[in-house]
Amino acid sequence: MKKIFWLAPLGALLAIQLIRPDMTNPPVDQAQDFRQVMQVPAEAQTILEAACYDCHSNETRHPWYSQVAPVSWWVADHINEGREALNFSTFGALNAEDRAEALEESAEKVQEGEMPLNSYTWMHPEAKLTAEQRDVLIKWLNANGGEGAGAGTPEADTKAATEDNRHDDDD
Ligand code: HEC
Repeated sequence: MKKIFWLAPLGALLAIQLIRPDMTNPPVDQAQDFRQVMQVPAEAQTILEAACYDCHSNETRHPWYSQVAPVSWWVADHINEGREALNFSTFGALNAEDRAEALEESAEKVQEGEMPLNSYTWMHPEAKLTAEQRDVLIKWLNANGGEGAGAGTPEADTKAATEDNRHDDDD
């Protein structure tokens, strides 16, 4: 008789597996990817791929537990919302202004500790950024985003960064 109590929730868990969100990654056009479009130092790019690409690109890795309902529903929501907010795979489609804004906002989110999401680093300890990694990432994002943006041209970036520094010295 007692067994019945276990069968109901187990049956429910099995039943909800039938509702599968679409987890297939959209195709990646490498020419539009962040790596191609921006001059990213390898160190910063590695951090982005480890900590952001699962939700903010079309190169999402799907571990087995992320495919089990109800976790899969929750994960799929994060990926869809994340891609909508910022997609590194289609970064090339953004104009200079939007690129600069995306980088500036990313720096802010990392600075504030909002990104990567805590619920994510809990299952992905490799995405938990060290103080040093955050520093590397924020510095590069800020040097290439916001008002100092040269939108991908390395010469302009360096110039903008130097001008920024000069401002700081004046203050
Ligand atoms: C687990 C998934 C996940 C990871 C990992 C993740 N994000 Fe996000 N991100 C989201 C979601 C979902 C949103 C949209 C809702 C929100 O703003 O909280 C978002 C929003 C953002 C936004 C705001 C865009 C806007 O228009 O408001 C930025 C910028 C951002 N993320 C940058 C990053 C960066 C940089 C990283 C890596 C250091 C990162 N995210 C890692 C899920 C993620």
